[in-house]
Amino acid sequence: MSERVERTAVYPGSFDPIHNGHLDLIERCRPMYDRLVIAVLHNEAKRALFSVDERLEIIRELVGERAGCEVLSFSGLLVHFMDQVGARIVVRGLRAVTDFEYEFQMAMMNRRLNPRVETVFMAPKEEYNYLSSSLVKEVFFLGGDLSGLVPEPVLARMRRRLDPRAGQAGGPGRAGRPGGAAVAGKAGRRSAG
Ligand code: PNS
Repeated sequence: MSERVERTAVYPGSFDPIHNGHLDLIERCRPMYDRLVIAVLHNEAKRALFSVDERLEIIRELVGERAGCEVLSFSGLLVHFMDQVGARIVVRGLRAVTDFEYEFQMAMMNRRLNPRVETVFMAPKEEYNYLSSSLVKEVFFLGGDLSGLVPEPVLARMRRRLDPRAGQAGGPGRAGRPGGAAVAGKAGRRSAG
């Protein structure tokens, strides 16, 4: 009788900030694997809205005690991190054709670096097809309504980031955008995150 091997998948990203498209993907792929590691990239070179520790805290709050879910950070190569957590499957969201080239390149490079690594692409719920962390930040800083697209606790943190005295409802108000926050995505592409 063959022994059953635990299937661990890694869902990597910047998650700056996490939005409903990410959470939808987590919900979709969680039942497919025994263990799902949500892996937050520690990237010193990229100016972020939330620190890695804040992002871990936010995601842990949102994902809670869901069985089989872990939230960790990583730096360096994803394939090295995957070895550390004993995973062979990378899960990535694919929203539109525009994501494909970049995602395909990453999948091929990861496989080249470690032939045991496979990438599984998943489509988010239609209403989140256009959603990205970069757009979330841009719309937020320009005062747009993000309800239904970003979890309320994340929006509340974003408001507090702009103005520590910020209220509980509405957009960012008149506080404006702090100079330190990164809004732009990758060159020529909105980050899938
Ligand atoms: O949400 P993002 O920002 O699109 O996620 C990109 C991420 C974190 C998956 C990617 O940048 C990554 O895996 N970085 C780790 C460094 C690495 O392994 N680079 C080679 C990948 S081909």
